[in-house]
Amino acid sequence: MSRKMYNEIDLNKIDVSAEPPTGEPARQYYFMAKCRQWVRAFEQKNGRRPTACVTTFGCQMNARDSEKLAGILESAGYESTDNENADFVIYNTCTVRDNANQRVYGRLGELKRYKKQNPQMKIALCGCMMQEPSVIEKLKKSYSFVDLIFGTHNIYKFAELLCASQEAKGMIIDIWQDTDKIVENLPVERKYPFKSGINIMFGCNNFCSYCIVPYVRGRERSREPEEILREIESLVADGVVEVMLLGQNVNSYGKTLDKSVNFAELLRRVEKIEGLKRIRFMTSHPKDLSEELIQVMKESSKICRHLHLPLQSGSTRILERMNRRYTREQYLDLVRRIRKEIPDIAITTDIIVGFPGETPEDLEETIDMVRTVEYDNAFTFIYSKRTGTPAAAMEDQVPAEEVRRGFDKLLKVVQDTARSQVAKYQGKVMEALIEEINENDTSMVTGRLSNNVIVHIPGDASMIGKMVFVSLDECHGFYYIGHLVDF
Ligand code: 5AD
Ligand code: SF4
Repeated sequence: MSRKMYNEIDLNKIDVSAEPPTGEPARQYYFMAKCRQWVRAFEQKNGRRPTACVTTFGCQMNARDSEKLAGILESAGYESTDNENADFVIYNTCTVRDNANQRVYGRLGELKRYKKQNPQMKIALCGCMMQEPSVIEKLKKSYSFVDLIFGTHNIYKFAELLCASQEAKGMIIDIWQDTDKIVENLPVERKYPFKSGINIMFGCNNFCSYCIVPYVRGRERSREPEEILREIESLVADGVVEVMLLGQNVNSYGKTLDKSVNFAELLRRVEKIEGLKRIRFMTSHPKDLSEELIQVMKESSKICRHLHLPLQSGSTRILERMNRRYTREQYLDLVRRIRKEIPDIAITTDIIVGFPGETPEDLEETIDMVRTVEYDNAFTFIYSKRTGTPAAAMEDQVPAEEVRRGFDKLLKVVQDTARSQVAKYQGKVMEALIEEINENDTSMVTGRLSNNVIVHIPGDASMIGKMVFVSLDECHGFYYIGHLVDF
């Protein structure tokens, strides 16, 4: 494999009249160069470059994948836009809950109208939802105006597929069932210059009974630590100060590698990278969170004081049916150990309401858990039946009306708890990374504390990407208004 970083490759030097190479990533570089030829021809014909819009649904993994899609489009010569009335539109989809799927179908109707006005428009779909055979059937039958469909396992082939679709008429579909391949060194177009997600592993082996992810993202595989470190080093050289290490279950990092590098060890190595200021990670499965990791977090000056620790349910009976492999007591014990070692840590969680067989008593146990743990924030979801998962076949599905009532009740407790947790920082001076101009008031900028709390302070664009000390003056529910403090 080429050890050159992508930015050392000159696509203009690739001979696209030759046969494409078979090795990766050289093959994809070849197709990027070939796409460029098509883009030049488009430019000559239309007097402008073709525009491309990448729309992301779902989680941080998808957001990172979208940066890769954008990177390839950019190197192929497309002009990026946020407007979906573009020459190339790609939806990077999610299927974790059915409402994510419904949104995609809804918005495809809109794209169809754009395509009527601009017949040279190409529409592409990729991501988790495309790994479901029933989705592909539906698209083939009722959405024949879609030009390109691919899945999660062959996203690294996007340049090649883009190239094929530029020339083709009709729908191209390329879906793989699984892969053990990890292709390094493809271009990435980052959304933020100063922070970035980094994949450390792909896929998931946990098979929680409600979850479709193991079926659409495949088996767990970890990236080599050297590749991860090399990527972070080059990001830091390019101005990144904060990284978010991404995986469905980061606590089992390294299990598929020959060497003995676990997640705690990886963090130790990332910590040593000079110039890097903050490290975040997502997501931790409670069953795999080691004592060693708690110690590494405690001793670190870069790992943020925030842990996302999905609970899903506070009832041991439901946890068992969910195949989560921890009990209510074990989870509580873990939280106590973490809080004892790292008292200023913010803990957030995910909770599902309405899992098959959940009784009002089970829900009370969940609500009690929220009060006991005092989450800094919790994402609450209504259970969504995903075809092919074990939970979809369970008989005692909870009536929608009852679920809605339970959900509202839980949400109120979650919000009350989060509000009082956030209010604890009132009057403190803390370090924030300034991320953007405030959306509603352009004389303010928005920053993020290590514990993930948001603060708005007077400021300007020159502060973006900088770490500053702020005084947290007024607590407004889930965020603060503050001011810059000179240290
Ligand atoms: N229904 C509802 N919520 C789900 N999640 C995962 N699968 C489902 C489902 N079938 C939630 C979990 C997970 C988060 C990313 O999405 O809480 O942690
Ligand atoms: Fe959605 Fe899960 Fe895919 Fe992320 S990994 S996009 S949450 S289905």
